[in-house]
Parts: sequence; structure tokens; C-alpha cells
Amino acid sequence: MTQAAIVKKPVTKITFPHHDFLSIEDLNADDITALLDLAEHYVVQNRRKSQTTAMLRGIVVVNVFLENSTGTRLSFEMAAKRLGAEVLNLGVEGSSIYKGESFTDIIRTVGAMLPDLVVVRHKKNGAALEAARLLDCPVLSGGDGTREHPTQALADALTLRRHFGRLEGLKVAICGDIMHSRVAHSNITLLQKMGANVVCAGPQELLPALPCATSDMTEALKDADAVMALRIQKERMERTLSLTDAEYFHAFGIDEDKMKHASPAAVVLHPGPMNRGVEIDNALADDDRRSLIRTQIEMGVAVRMACLDLLTRNSRR
Ligand code: CP
Repeated sequence: MTQAAIVKKPVTKITFPHHDFLSIEDLNADDITALLDLAEHYVVQNRRKSQTTAMLRGIVVVNVFLENSTGTRLSFEMAAKRLGAEVLNLGVEGSSIYKGESFTDIIRTVGAMLPDLVVVRHKKNGAALEAARLLDCPVLSGGDGTREHPTQALADALTLRRHFGRLEGLKVAICGDIMHSRVAHSNITLLQKMGANVVCAGPQELLPALPCATSDMTEALKDADAVMALRIQKERMERTLSLTDAEYFHAFGIDEDKMKHASPAAVVLHPGPMNRGVEIDNALADDDRRSLIRTQIEMGVAVRMACLDLLTRNSRR
């Protein structure tokens, strides 16, 4: 199908029976496929920069990001604006959190203003669910504690599906700080639901007790189709890592040497933010023949456009 044909095709018949989107756990394989298919439509639309639509005209999206973000917050804002919505952003610095205001009261304040959709990022597990219980409008997770980053997992899945034409049967090695990574958790869940073979690898002290986890990088990378590097989430760690950055890079950082164990056509991913020279080699991250990192960022906008479209359908009726 040509790109123009994809744009013209009506995309109103997708079934997505969810009021909020907080977790990949809540989606089945059909929901995920529906979201990715709709996101394909928005990949095309996002590239047609002069054609911002009026689909969400009159809709107000509030981004409540009480933990810092570069990619996710901007991506949600870009997605909402491409669809014609108004966006309000509340970050840690601009909020009254330092004056003692609780998360619950912040959400109640936002809710009393009658927004049409709220995106929540917070360091506490379950914060987005708490917001969804307090708000009448749909809530989207923009990253929740150590457990959930559903739109990042969708962006990564769309990136892989576009590159390989499928998710089923792919071997995906997720490497780094698995224990504290919400990206790892959401990706493992999504990829396994879609029939991929997921292996997680990293230092023992950063590995949760999962059947797919190993500290043997050679085993994890062996014949992998895709290798995802994750940063060490120092802000979530109770104890300092026993390895220096240099020791970590030598043992667990993704570089050309370790990629020799993967499939010859293997690709590299990273959800950002990156610590170059720690979890990923600087040159490899920028190698367009191997690295899909820029594509992940672009796909993030498309999947968030799809999520905003689906979750605002009721308020647009
Ligand atoms: N991938 C991701 O969550 O990055 P940010 O923390 O910059 O949003």
C-alpha cells in the first residue's frame, strides 16, 4: 500500500475498549495490533508537517509530569498538537509540590478544571492508576514508577514491526538495569504477548527474578534480532552499583564486539535518555545501519497520536 493510500483510508473502525491506558498488561494482542495499525496511519500524518489536523480541536490535554522527561513529554505534546489539541504542561518545577501539595491534590486540582485527557508521569508505582480513579476524563501513563511505560513499549514495537515486518518469532535482548526499568517491564510484557522471544541481561544486582533473565551477555545476545540497551536508573537505586561506569561498559555495555554474538542483521535500540559510553557505545548509537534509536523517537509521536485519538473518541462524539 502506498503512503497516500494509508492516509486516505478511514481508521474509525478500530476496537479499543479502554477508558484509560495505564499498562500493557491491560491490552491483549488484538488491542496492541489495533494500536500499532492506527499508529502507522499517524506515522504518515506526522511526516506531512503542514497538515496538522483539527481532529482534536477543542480538546485540552494536560501533561502532569512530576518526574523529569525529555522524550516522552515532548512527544505527547507534539502528538497532541499535530492533532489540533491544546496542551497544558505541569512539571515538577512549575508545580506547588515544593510547597507541600500532595499528588492527590494536584490531580484533584487538574480534574476540577475539566480537562479532556490527562497524561501522568510519576516516580511512584500506581500513580497513574490513582489519577485515573480521581479523574473522570481518560488518563494515559507517561511512565509510572519502575513498572509501566506503555507508550514507550508501543513505540519500540512499532519500530521493530516496521523494520522486520513482524514481532512474532523475533529474539529481542533487553540489556542493562532491568530491575528498575519500567521500559523493560512494559517491553517484556508487550513483546511476549506478540510472540517474540525476550531475553533480559545485566549484572546480577540489576536483574529481577524472571525466567528470561540472565547475567550471561553472550547467551542473551546469541542470534538476537534486536538488542535494546537500557540506562542504569541511579535515581531509583537504594544502593550504589558495585561496578564503575567503565567496568559496566566493559561487561554489559552494547558495542560492536558484543553485537558480534547477535544476528548479522541485528539492530540496536535505546529508549533514551542515553548514557553514551556506559550502556551503549557512542558510535554504535549513531550508526544508521544498525541503530533504530531515531526511529524509536519518531514512532513515539505516532503511537501517542494513536492513543490520543482512541482515548478521546467518546469526548468527541
Ligand atoms: N524514554 C523515556 O521515558 O525518556 P524520558 O525520560 O526522557 O521521557
